[in-house]
Amino acid sequence: MQLQTGQARQQKQATPRLQGVACWLVVILLMTEALSGCVVHHLSADCRSSGLQEVPAHLPPDVTHLDLSGNHLSSLPNLTFSHLPHLLWLDLSSNTIDDLEPDAFANLTLLQVLSLHDNRLRSLPTSVFRPLPALRSLQLSGNWELWNVLAPRNQDIWKDLNLELFDLSGNSLESAAFPDTFSAMKSLKKLYLSGNQIQSFSKADFAKFEGQDFQTLDLSLNPTSRVEPGFFKVFKSVDDLDLSQLDLSLSDLQGIFADLAGANLTRLKVNDFEFSPSVFSALRPDTFENLAGTSLRHLGMSSSAVQDISDHSFRDLAELVTLDLSLNALSRLPQQAFSGLPKLQVLVLSSNPFSQVPGEALAAVSLTLETLELNDVPVDEIHPGDFGNLPRLTHLSMSGLLNGRLQELSPRCFQGLPGLTVLNLQQNRLAGLPDGVFSGLHNLQVLLLSQNRIAQLQETSFSGLPNLRVLDLSGNNLLASLPERIFHPLKSLEELRLNENSFSNFFGAVKLNGLNKLRRMNLTSNNLGLLPIFDPVSTLEVLDLSDNQVFNEKVTYVSERPFRNLSNLVYLSLSDNRLDVIQKTDTSSFFEGLGSLKVLKMSQTGDPWKSFRNATIFYALPALRVLDLSSSGIAALPRKAFWVHSHLEGVDLSNNEILSLPGQLFPPTPTSLQVLSLRSNRISVLPETRYDYFVRGLEILDLRDNFFQCDCDVRWFIAWANSSGVVQGWEGGTYTCSSPSSLRNKPLSSYNPDCMTYTSLYACIVTTSLISLYILTCFAVHKYGWWFGYVFYVAGRTFRRREVARNPARRFRYDAFVAYSSRDERWVTEELVRNLENGDPSYRLCIGARDFVGGVAITENIARSVEASRKTICVVTRNFVQSSWCNYELQASEGRYRVFDPWRSNLVLVFLERVPDRVVARHKQLRTVVERDTYLVWPRDKRRGPLFWARLMDALGEPLGQNDQPDLDLIEEDFV
Ligand SMILES: *[C@@H]1O[C@H](CO)[C@@H](O)[C@H](O)[C@H]1NC(C)=O
Ligand SMILES: *[C@@H]1O[C@H](CO)[C@@H](O)[C@H](O)[C@H]1NC(C)=O
Ligand SMILES: *[C@@H]1O[C@H](CO)[C@@H](O)[C@H](O)[C@H]1NC(C)=O
Repeated sequence: MQLQTGQARQQKQATPRLQGVACWLVVILLMTEALSGCVVHHLSADCRSSGLQEVPAHLPPDVTHLDLSGNHLSSLPNLTFSHLPHLLWLDLSSNTIDDLEPDAFANLTLLQVLSLHDNRLRSLPTSVFRPLPALRSLQLSGNWELWNVLAPRNQDIWKDLNLELFDLSGNSLESAAFPDTFSAMKSLKKLYLSGNQIQSFSKADFAKFEGQDFQTLDLSLNPTSRVEPGFFKVFKSVDDLDLSQLDLSLSDLQGIFADLAGANLTRLKVNDFEFSPSVFSALRPDTFENLAGTSLRHLGMSSSAVQDISDHSFRDLAELVTLDLSLNALSRLPQQAFSGLPKLQVLVLSSNPFSQVPGEALAAVSLTLETLELNDVPVDEIHPGDFGNLPRLTHLSMSGLLNGRLQELSPRCFQGLPGLTVLNLQQNRLAGLPDGVFSGLHNLQVLLLSQNRIAQLQETSFSGLPNLRVLDLSGNNLLASLPERIFHPLKSLEELRLNENSFSNFFGAVKLNGLNKLRRMNLTSNNLGLLPIFDPVSTLEVLDLSDNQVFNEKVTYVSERPFRNLSNLVYLSLSDNRLDVIQKTDTSSFFEGLGSLKVLKMSQTGDPWKSFRNATIFYALPALRVLDLSSSGIAALPRKAFWVHSHLEGVDLSNNEILSLPGQLFPPTPTSLQVLSLRSNRISVLPETRYDYFVRGLEILDLRDNFFQCDCDVRWFIAWANSSGVVQGWEGGTYTCSSPSSLRNKPLSSYNPDCMTYTSLYACIVTTSLISLYILTCFAVHKYGWWFGYVFYVAGRTFRRREVARNPARRFRYDAFVAYSSRDERWVTEELVRNLENGDPSYRLCIGARDFVGGVAITENIARSVEASRKTICVVTRNFVQSSWCNYELQASEGRYRVFDPWRSNLVLVFLERVPDRVVARHKQLRTVVERDTYLVWPRDKRRGPLFWARLMDALGEPLGQNDQPDLDLIEEDFV
């Protein structure tokens, strides 16, 4: 049910009005993934089905609505909600709560609605509802072991409550004897006792409610075999009464009807008597005679085993407007079955074994009938005159549901129904439509023909429908061969649904000219290969092209500007197409003309920046508000990808392979951005500078299922997430550290790095470094003379540069020093330099063969280069490991790493080939680094190249900006 509501909402949002498009994205986020954690939007926290075992502790304190249904809460200790004193609405349904402490709801002084439906409560503490003076609606239904709450000894539970709605359905109540405390509950209007074990209702039980104005009373589904005569005399005001499926006989029911004489009864349900077939199997003129004194307007008799209706059976229900006789055993109706119903407007006869339209019986209500439902009846064919003459009928539904039998429509079979506005023939077996079958339906506005077997249509199939607004032909077998002018008569058409057919080149023949009012068009799930040109339908506002073959490898699209005339289009979906193989065409003007587009969906469509080979592809959409790029294999976003989108409200980038956000992704002050999902990517670092300028305006940020590196960089995020309540799923342990390995799986919310003591740590590390340097020195002097110079050099300068250390960015000349063996030089120049220096963003590399200063000792050159570079890339091959440079360069970089950045290595290891473990093991330094840090492996598979480069860039971080000129003085000072 919730799903349906969600979908309905989603569709509604896709209409041109598009109020709160970000809401729409929230709905999508909610719909598409099983949740873990809470989604907080405005003042509502949605924590449905999130696997929670406890109530989250860090929700925003001002939330008013909290949905915790479908979790694993088993107990509610005292003060569970005391941090949420503004709650008005609390849903705890479908948990496993069996332990409710007396003060569980303390501090909820504003709470109006509480649902504990579908839990395992066996009893209730006497004072549990005391703290809830504002409570109006209480649902205790579906706690099937809760049987004694109405016992006299428990009467104090209800003291001081003033409920309007009280739901006790699906418990195990054996009697409806309400204790005395209920006499004070003067506002009770709706009482539900359905699905209990109540065997009898006596007057004394309800004595407390004497004089009270009940509106709704549901006693259905009880094994009730006795109702004390006069019991219902109390309920003169009851408007809606449900007596479905009780163990009563027809004469018992007639006794009840007599009690209700003079009552305000509007709705009566006596459904589901199918297990007591003797009750309603044959309706007679006297069946309802005792209801003559009521003004019953709606009668439900669904699933009650009605087989036979005599003439005039409903004659005493002169006020009846709605009659539901669905799911019975009626195969025919006598001519006067409905006579005496002068106001009947809605008749539901669905799911009865009629083999023909029961047209004769309808004549009795022909002057009033507006809606006729005949779904799921075994009628094969409709003939002219089957419905007789029903001039007021506006809605006719003959959907086949699961067993559609309708195969044939005769020409003019709907004559006699001139007022029809909605005709539903969905889910049948229609293979075609005879010429002019609908002509005469001048008022028809909605024609639903989906899920039939229509393969052929005539040019005149839709003639005579000047007012048709919606035509649904989805789910048929239509191919390309529609007559050219088929839609020509439909001058008023606003919505055309052609989804789920087999169109491959629909627009080759069909002309959309003349559809001057068309606003919505659905072409999803066809085989469209050529992207049609939508020039004739410039009024289009919503266009769905998802799940087609647009841009598949065989056909590249013909038009360069397929949407050029759609200046009114607000919603466009290209999701689930194969955009990754656009070839040989200039793609830069692809979106040209879409000046009003607010919502663009390109989920599962491939990385758009790559397919279009254009970093500014979305710049043609200035009005864009919602962009869905989920599940598209995106590894890296270009800088300034959304730089011009000042109205952007929501972006869904979930389920991609994004390693980090580039700087300047959004406009400098993206005040409109409210929702951003980066769920299920590969984000490990969250540098404040790349997020800070936009996150503080967000209402929803989803970063679940990423791989966070726990270091000082993430500290700002933790603090902000804890205080803002904007980070989705922050509760419930979905955010954990992935690295370093010592912190793996530790919840991010409780990670508290000690970054403040940087100075003391620094001193400590310098000291230990000095000691190890000393040891190393001895070792080096002994073994390799050339180490001595380097070690002395580094040690001598360590203290001089303390100040520099605090601002490392100022002193770097290069982004990275590349350490490699000269035998691997080809890879370095052909791949590394090409991709990093000439790419976007572009990095400044220090390559020995090119950048080393002549006339200086090589050790000195290495030391200088390492010092002047922010990072060191080690290109690890067998050659490299076996050269003595390996240890030396690692050591040089490691030394600096310890001094300047105690938390993060500045070393990036790139393995160009597999180096046997035993070789790695022999080199202690290399082994340490490999075990501690992650490293990159050059992929053999070329297709994984982009991912490799994206990861490498991520490891390198932002390049030094063109403006960040190194502080030459400092460098000079260092090097002189
Ligand atoms: C919860 O509160 C009730 C009443 O204030 C008290 O009797 C009970 O001991 C409390 N339970 C716990 C576990 O503190
Ligand atoms: C919550 O209720 C308890 C007990 O009723 C009370 O002592 C406490 O002050 C209340 N806290 C707030 C924040 O209202
Ligand atoms: C019946 O309904 C009418 C209007 O809805 C109301 O004025 C009247 O008081 C009701 N009668 C009873 C007995 O509740």
